[in-house]
Amino acid sequence: MLLRILGTAAGGGVPQWNCACPGCSGARRFPSRRRLHDGLALHGARPDEWFLVNATPDIAEQLESHSDLRPADEHARTPVVRAVLTDAELDHTLGLLRLREAARIEVWCTRPVRAALEHRLNLTDVLAPYTGLVWNELPSGDARQPARIAGLDVSGVELSAKRPRYAADDDAHPAWSVGLRVHDTRSGRRLLYAPAVATWSDALEQALAGTDCALLDGTFLDEDEPRRTGISSRTATGMGHLPILGPAGTAHRLRGTGAHIYYTHLNNTNPLVDPDAPEHTRLAEAELNVAHDRMVREL
Ligand code: MLT
Ligand code: MN
Ligand code: ZN
Repeated sequence: MLLRILGTAAGGGVPQWNCACPGCSGARRFPSRRRLHDGLALHGARPDEWFLVNATPDIAEQLESHSDLRPADEHARTPVVRAVLTDAELDHTLGLLRLREAARIEVWCTRPVRAALEHRLNLTDVLAPYTGLVWNELPSGDARQPARIAGLDVSGVELSAKRPRYAADDDAHPAWSVGLRVHDTRSGRRLLYAPAVATWSDALEQALAGTDCALLDGTFLDEDEPRRTGISSRTATGMGHLPILGPAGTAHRLRGTGAHIYYTHLNNTNPLVDPDAPEHTRLAEAELNVAHDRMVREL
């Protein structure tokens, strides 16, 4: 499979329009530091067969920046777009509205995510006059057959009941936020994508064990970052994102997994958005990487 990283920022992006923190200011001064909202495009056997993972508010620019994701020639239009969603968060779903010029949008997501998008955001009704929205259930949990999308086997790893703020009073369900397991049965390679890791669970550990490459939640560098930077009164864990460093952090748990690990979904407060930050050396020593926008990897 071919992995294209379309973006690597958490909600707001880097820079965020209303923010002048060091990370956002740095990205305004040095455009190479800019990060779009986190999302992927995955190709199966053929270059023209691909699907999106998450549909971000930046989706049109993201598709435009990869020539293989643009329509094939000057007369053609991309007729169908496929999107697999890890959750119902706005940074992962607002792009569906922006894709309304497609003849059809095929979406794969879990049941609570679909319910939130249909009943809270009213997506089915809003998009109906523009495009055909086709819902498919994303299989998640243990005993489920994966979905076959663009020649790849795709399924969800149930990670937490973290719901978007606009659906905070909806019922708890373990499939609100999933990691995505993608298996290329031709090459045998496996990818795991988990931009929201709220707790360290057995399900996550098992999914990591068989993975060649994992893109994981790197929203906050340490537990106190949201409070210290003034963006929230909660800690990183309290906001549903385990930090990278510290006792609650994911870095020490990821040692020796054998997978290539990339952190993604970086918040603009995360010191790692500065390429000169000393923390990069610390992570590199632990063989942990930070993902970049427009990175392409063959798996
Ligand atoms: C998250 O990742 O926790 C959410 O996307 C936050 C948000 O709503 O911006
Ligand atoms: Mn997010
Ligand atoms: Zn900022």
